[in-house]
Amino acid sequence: MLVDGTHYRSIWFDEADSAVRAIDQTRLPHFFDIITLDSLEDACHAIRDMQVRGAPLIGAAAAYGMCLALREGHDNPAQAAAQLAATRPTAVNLQWALDRVLKAIAAADGTDEQVRQALAVAAAICDEDVDNCRAIGEHGVALIRDIARSSDAPVNILTHCNAGWLATVDRGTALAPVYQAWEEGIDVHVWVDETRPRNQGASLTAWELLQQRIPHTVISDNTGGHLMQSGRVDLCLVGSDRTTFRGNVCNKIGTYLKALAAHDNGIPFYAAVPVSSIDWESDDIPIEERGSEEITAICGLNTQGVLDTVRLTPAGSAALNYAFDVTPARLVTGIITERGIVSADEAGLAQLKSRVASD
Ligand code: MRU
Repeated sequence: MLVDGTHYRSIWFDEADSAVRAIDQTRLPHFFDIITLDSLEDACHAIRDMQVRGAPLIGAAAAYGMCLALREGHDNPAQAAAQLAATRPTAVNLQWALDRVLKAIAAADGTDEQVRQALAVAAAICDEDVDNCRAIGEHGVALIRDIARSSDAPVNILTHCNAGWLATVDRGTALAPVYQAWEEGIDVHVWVDETRPRNQGASLTAWELLQQRIPHTVISDNTGGHLMQSGRVDLCLVGSDRTTFRGNVCNKIGTYLKALAAHDNGIPFYAAVPVSSIDWESDDIPIEERGSEEITAICGLNTQGVLDTVRLTPAGSAALNYAFDVTPARLVTGIITERGIVSADEAGLAQLKSRVASD
């Protein structure tokens, strides 16, 4: 997607310097900084501290983390993979990407060949992600087109957290249909949930929509229900870190409450997910718990133009910080994937197994 008119992916391999580069998402929206990942430790740190985040991007970063580990001479790839897997537990793409790299290097002869194979897999994961997100957009835009046909007003879409290009390698999942609609000339407007505690909506979704010049409004997390009751939301589109084979959707904390409000108001609620983030095995989802300082304090730009963190809560109050929640399948109208839109249930998701992208 575009940043000041220049196209960027969220992560890439710089062939000239043989270096892995990524956009530092902890500095957005105030500063656009590129980081270089040089080692396994750098990759683990970038994922854990959310310089890179979002399920598909975490997978891509982990794959590159394996390349760096091998290049550094780690002689136990399974241990390097375990270190990367431990950084964030919820997104299924992380383990999926690590498994792909481990499989590819299993038969490789020598370190150089292992690095070459790992780099090829990481590049393939990135390219596939771009293609998948584009296909998700092409399938999902049909929902927006249908709404646009029935009214002259802009289509109002509510989204939670950031499931845009910053959460993927390019284009996004939940935002891909929005970008597609905009490119087709459909009038859209996005309600952007701020998404406490880390504010991925207010800082990342707003920034990337602004960069693509798409009309949007940031709202506090508590506003969505009121907007839905007053007829100002046509469609909810969210991403997912893990969707189980039964159609339960795990996404950023607060997604469940939006789905409840959408259900109560008869508003379609869709999750846009690459097939790689479907858990075909289990309905049991590990929910990441993060540090309480993300609740007790907030970071922003101070009047001197410096990023600063200030305390919000009384020093003596405890805080609890779950990063994700699970929206039960019964509240999900459908799942948009690169292989088409299916119902959020076992039968619907099973159909995906026999389809190829863009069917
Ligand atoms: O904690 P984050 O910022 O990694 O959480 C991201 C989300 O919840 C996204 O909605 C999800 O990863 C889907 S991304 C396409």
